[in-house]
Amino acid sequence: MSKKKATPVSSWDIVFPNDANPYGTMFGGKLMAGMDEMAGIAASRFCGCQVVTASTEAFIFKSPVKVGDRIETIARVVWVGNTSLVVKVQVFAENPVQGKKRTRCTTGHFNMVAINNDGQPIRVPDLEVSTDMEKQDYEVAEIVKRQALIRKKEVLKRKGMRD
Ligand SMILES: CC(C)(COP(=O)(O)OP(=O)(O)OC[C@H]1O[C@@H](n2cnc3c(N)ncnc32)[C@H](O)[C@@H]1OP(=O)(O)O)[C@@H](O)C(=O)NCCC(=O)NCCS
Repeated sequence: MSKKKATPVSSWDIVFPNDANPYGTMFGGKLMAGMDEMAGIAASRFCGCQVVTASTEAFIFKSPVKVGDRIETIARVVWVGNTSLVVKVQVFAENPVQGKKRTRCTTGHFNMVAINNDGQPIRVPDLEVSTDMEKQDYEVAEIVKRQALIRKKEVLKRKGMRD
């Protein structure tokens, strides 16, 4: 099977007061919802089919997003398995009033799975990894994916749940 290049997808939003907590910074959950949506778009464009989120991983909230900030969310498929993909999502903020420089606020990884109309996992295309950045992202995602599966196994074992 020939390898496929992953193209990034991006979107812009403005942070309104109803997106924020009482301290005037954005709710983490609201930010994560937007990131999850973009991860889904990046993954489904790459596979050309439906995808679901299996888990959210390795989130780093580096600096707060404030009311009035413009935020750009950028998502790209960085790793693929047989039926699963890891999407890296980054959020950058700019403040038009304060003229603050662009800041990277949050980075997260999403484990996505490609599914058919019956909700069953299906094969995804192979990923072309060529640039230094793609290689670095691939290595990080491989760790993220491995740790997610170890954690899932441990949690299910301890809770006595079936996979
Ligand atoms: C995600 C889902 C399709 C996996 O189904 P499953 O029967 O457990 O699938 P399998 O065990 O056969 O694994 C299929 C792939 O998913 C991956 N996967 C499953 N659970 C995972 C997890 N928690 N983290 C990372 N990858 C996971 C497996 O590693 C495997 O990848 P591979 O084919 O590349 O090796 C299924 O659990 C599901 O539909 N979950 C609900 C998803 C959803 O509704 N998300 C939105 C939440 S509101």
